[in-house]
Amino acid sequence: MKKWILWLSMTASACQEKPTQTNDTATAKIAIENSDPHTYARPHLAIVKHLDLALKVDFATQKLQGKAVWTIENVSKGNEIIFDVNGISIEKITTGEEETPAKFTTDSANEFMGAPLKISILPETKRISIYYSTSPDATAVQWLTPKQTAGKKHPFLFTQSQSILARTWVPCQDGPGIRFTYNARIQVPKELLALMSAENPQQKNDSGIYHFKQTHPIPSYLLALSVGDLAFKSIDSRTGVYAEPSIVAKAAWEFADMGRMADAAEKIYIPYRWGRYDVLVLPPSFPFGGMENPNLTFATPTLIAGDRSLVSVIAHELAHSWTGNLVTNATWNDMWLNEGFTTYFERRIVEAVYGEKEMQMQEVLGRETLNGQIKEFGATSRDTKLKGDYAGRNPDDAISEIPYEKGYSFLRTIEAATGRENFDAFMKKYLSENAFQSKTSEEFLEALTSDLLKNDSELVKKIEIKSWVYEPGLPTNAPPVAAPAFKTIDSLIGIWSDGGSITGMAKRISSANERLYFLGHLPATTTAEKMTAIDNEFNFTSSNNAELQCDWYTLSVRHQYKPAYPGIEAFLKSVGRRKFLMPIYKEMKKTPDGLQWAKKIFAEAKEGYHPLAVQSVGALLAE
Ligand code: BES
Ligand code: ZN
Repeated sequence: MKKWILWLSMTASACQEKPTQTNDTATAKIAIENSDPHTYARPHLAIVKHLDLALKVDFATQKLQGKAVWTIENVSKGNEIIFDVNGISIEKITTGEEETPAKFTTDSANEFMGAPLKISILPETKRISIYYSTSPDATAVQWLTPKQTAGKKHPFLFTQSQSILARTWVPCQDGPGIRFTYNARIQVPKELLALMSAENPQQKNDSGIYHFKQTHPIPSYLLALSVGDLAFKSIDSRTGVYAEPSIVAKAAWEFADMGRMADAAEKIYIPYRWGRYDVLVLPPSFPFGGMENPNLTFATPTLIAGDRSLVSVIAHELAHSWTGNLVTNATWNDMWLNEGFTTYFERRIVEAVYGEKEMQMQEVLGRETLNGQIKEFGATSRDTKLKGDYAGRNPDDAISEIPYEKGYSFLRTIEAATGRENFDAFMKKYLSENAFQSKTSEEFLEALTSDLLKNDSELVKKIEIKSWVYEPGLPTNAPPVAAPAFKTIDSLIGIWSDGGSITGMAKRISSANERLYFLGHLPATTTAEKMTAIDNEFNFTSSNNAELQCDWYTLSVRHQYKPAYPGIEAFLKSVGRRKFLMPIYKEMKKTPDGLQWAKKIFAEAKEGYHPLAVQSVGALLAE
C-alpha cells in the first residue's frame, strides 16, 4: 500500500470522532474531511449525483463494455474529481455535452482498495463520460457457464457490489456515504433477460436491450446487475419472484409470504418507499444468503427448502429496504447501523407474520452464534466493538456476527429501557427524517440521546450506550433470551445422554429451528455410533434444508461419521454460499487427513465458486 494511502486511512479513522485540530496542508484537510477510509473519493470537493450507464454484456470475452456518464457537482469549483476503480480498463474520458477529452491518471492498485482515478475538470464541469471495459476477473462479477445453471443451456451473470466491489465493474465514488440516482441501458444476448437494482422488466424482448431507472438516490454498493434465462412469477400486486424457468414456481411457493411481510413491515415502521419489491433467485454459487439490492433482492437457491423454513432471510433483505437502503451506514465502520437494525427489524417482521415463538427461537440461536463469535475473536478483541475499525483493512473483514447480533441485542436493550411504543415512534421519525441519507454511528446516537432519551442521563447510563458501541465484548445488561420450545429439547437431549432411546424424537423435535438447536446442543462426546442413531431417526444426511445440512455435515466431519461423506462432497461442490462453506472446510482443516480432503474438494469445486468464496476458502486452506 502506498504510504499516503495508509496515512490517509489512519488519519481518517482517527478523526471519526469529529476532530477539532486541523493541519495546514491541503491533503491533511482532505483526509480529515473524508471520514470514509475505504474510498479515494473526496466528495466534499466534487461529488457524483447521477449515473447514465450503458453496457454491453459479452459472455465470450467475459467483459462488460461501454460507458458510465456521470452528472457531477463540483462543490469546491476545483480542478479534479476522484473516482474509485479496481481492475477496470479505461479507453477514454470526456467532459461536457460536447465530449471534450479529459486528462486522467490512475495510481497502481492496492489489493482491495483498487486505485484512485483522478480526472481533470473545470470549475463548471457537470458531466463526465468514462469509456471502459471490465476485466474477466472483476471480483464483483461472476460469469457462469451453462453447466452452472439449472437449465444447463445458457450462460448467466450476476454482480455483488457490497462492500467495495462496485469499483470493479463501474468507475464510481465507492463509499456508502455517497448517493446517486441511475439510468441504465444494458445489451445482452437475445435469449437472455437483464435485471438490475431498479425498475425491472418482467419478460424478455426481441432486441436484447433493456432500460432501467433507479429514481431514488442509492449508494454504489447497491448497484447490481444479473443476466440469464430468467422468468417472472407474481406473488401479489407489488411483489414477485424471478428465477430460471424450472425453479420459478417452486421459488414463488417458498416465498409466498413476501407480500404479507412487506405489509407487516409497513405497519411496524413507515410505508415502503421503493415501488415494487421482487426477489431474484440465483444459481447456487451466489456467495451470500441474500443481498438487499433495491427493488430486487438477490437470493441463494438454498433458501428453497420446500417447507418455507428459511424465509426469515427474505424478511431480512426486505427489512433492509428501510434499514440500510433508506437510511444507510455512512462508512463500513458503521456497518452495525445496516445489519444490526436489519436483524432487529427482520425479527419484528417474523414476530408479526409467524408469531412470537418463532421469533424467540431465532433470537436464541442468534445469541448463541454471537457468544460463539465473541469467544472466537476474544472478549477484548477490537473486532467485537459495534463501531468498527477497519481502516487499512478490507471492510469485508467486518462481516461477522458482531454487527448483526451485537447490534440486535443493543437495540433490544434500548427497546427494553424505553418501551416498544416509544422506540417504534422514534424509529418512524428517524427513518422518515433521514430517508435516502447516510448516517454515522455518532449521528444515530445523537438522535437517540436527544430525541428518544430526551437527554435523560439516568437512562443513558442504564442503557450503557458507550459500552455497547465503543467497547469490546457483550455488555452485562444485554436482555436475557429464552425459547420455551428449546427447554424441551434440552431435557430430551438429557434423557438420551442418560441412556434413553432416541426413537420418536424426530416427531418431538420437528421444525428446522428446533433441529438446529438440537444439533448445536449435542454433547461434545457424541460418537460416530451415536451419529448413526441420530441419522436413522432424523435423516439429516438427506435433509433439504441447507442450514441443517451445514450443521450436520460439520458434526459429521468432527465425529468422523463416514456415511455422510459423499453428501458433504456433493454439498461443497454444488453450493457456493460462504456461510456454509466456511464452517465445513474449517472443521476439515482440523486434522491432516481432513485438510487433504478439503484441498482436493476445493481444487475440484473452485471453478464453480464465486471469486469471493474462492478468496475466503483459499485463504483458509493456505493458512
Ligand atoms: N448485506 C448483507 C450481505 C453482505 C454483507 C454482503 C456484507 C457483503 C458484505 C445481507 O443483507 C445479509 O446480511 N445476508 C445474510 C443473511 C441474513 C439473514 C443474515 C447472508 O447472506 O447470510
Ligand atoms: Zn443484511
